[in-house]
Amino acid sequence: MNIKFLDTPLASIDADITVIFLTESLLKDSTHYELLNKAGFKATQDQILLLHEKGLLYCGIETLNRDAIRSAATQAIRCLKASNYTSAKVAQYFAKNTPALVDGLVLGFYSFDTYKSKKEPSAFQHCYLSNENFDGTLLESAPLQEEIEQRSIVCHAVNYVRNLVNTIPNDITPPALAEISQKLAQEHALNCHVLDEQALNAQGMHAMLAVGRASVHKPRLIHVSYTPENPQRVISLVGKGLTYDSGGLSLKSPTSMVSMKMDKAGACAVLGILKAVSELRLPIEVHGFIGAAENMLNGDAYKPDDVLQTKNGTTVEVRNTDAEGRLVLADTLAYAQQEVKADYLFDYATLTGACMVALGPYTVGMMGHSNTLKHQFAKIATPSGELLASLPFNAHLKKLLKSDIADISNVGSKPYGGAITAGMFLDNFIDKGMKQKWMHFDIAGPAYSETPWDCHPYGATGSGVRFTIEWMRTLLSQADEA
Ligand code: BES
Ligand code: ZN
Ligand code: ZN
Repeated sequence: MNIKFLDTPLASIDADITVIFLTESLLKDSTHYELLNKAGFKATQDQILLLHEKGLLYCGIETLNRDAIRSAATQAIRCLKASNYTSAKVAQYFAKNTPALVDGLVLGFYSFDTYKSKKEPSAFQHCYLSNENFDGTLLESAPLQEEIEQRSIVCHAVNYVRNLVNTIPNDITPPALAEISQKLAQEHALNCHVLDEQALNAQGMHAMLAVGRASVHKPRLIHVSYTPENPQRVISLVGKGLTYDSGGLSLKSPTSMVSMKMDKAGACAVLGILKAVSELRLPIEVHGFIGAAENMLNGDAYKPDDVLQTKNGTTVEVRNTDAEGRLVLADTLAYAQQEVKADYLFDYATLTGACMVALGPYTVGMMGHSNTLKHQFAKIATPSGELLASLPFNAHLKKLLKSDIADISNVGSKPYGGAITAGMFLDNFIDKGMKQKWMHFDIAGPAYSETPWDCHPYGATGSGVRFTIEWMRTLLSQADEA
């Protein structure tokens, strides 16, 4: 299915179906009010009604804002996907809602059928977006066209991430993730450098090696970079790439283990961001560092009671082998800072179940020392279509990471504030000069869901891509103004 902007009013576009969004108050003024009323259409959020004879698909929205449009557009495109229509057209609902409209259409159309023996291809192929606003006025075409094209690129990157995260652990192992990164690099003229076991050993990355030791699929550190000419900024992105997290010897329960293929979602988000940034040709140098490992068990597995030597010299007492992501990130963050002197350092990780307890399953937990960065991300959350909330560090929780035998313990000594103690654990691996440039994003909740929500179906959501690109675009527009 493709989205196409047409610089022409709605009436002059030829399509099977016209999609119309209505609020309750717009419904009263609708030309088909009586017909809609008879059919029981009340324009409640996400209610849809197809008038086949008239070629109209009505979608209810609570108010005319981004969230309502994104959600209703998702319902509309799912209805069209299941139909035998081949095309549809949609007006604009104010230019500021256009990205949300594209999100609903492109992200709502997504489904994952790689492992289904019978595929059900959709007949639906084209979605035309007009420059006509819903009230009949015409919007300025050039910015609208650019916005639609750019948002489509971002949404396709989100779908790329979803495909990777949904892929089973048998098909994406750490070496396979390295190959996928190399392929992405080839296709997008990026650089890609992979460190295997020996190279990791030479770099002193013993925490990451310990996590991956019990698996037959050995760890890899993957460095993918996009280096445009005359970049305005340099940004390093670090991703947790646990291609499977069984918990190790601190074994997960059978129910908690299901869906742990998603523990690579941070790594996949980093790849998706690189894909989007390079396709958008943003003037930012972006380095992606992925710590890829599989947390398994065998006779040589790392154990609770072990003390690990990390790359930056900090020793870590292992008290729970299921808190493995922070060990992989510790070494990957240290390596990223050694390799690149960046203006910003962000990490993405499905790090803690505690983050879901704190914020619910839909919201990204953001942590760090910079209030400026936290405010910037809070501000771009709504336009990005992702939910973000800040979890504050504090000195009392920091004490819970104390170890009697090593420099720090890999888990907090008390069961509360687990998302924050995990974030504060990572802080030990951030160089002094980088503290104000670093942000940690815990995406354990929003990265994956077994119940569809918003524009997301069952499974992976592609969390991380939209808010990061939105933040980058704001950064660049501010640089232009300065
Ligand atoms: N990958 C998990 C975190 C997670 C849990 C992600 C649920 C998505 C859904 C992580 O490695 C983990 O197991 N964390 C432990 C930490 C604990 C042992 C301190 C957790 O959250 O229970
Ligand atoms: Zn774990
Ligand atoms: Zn994990």
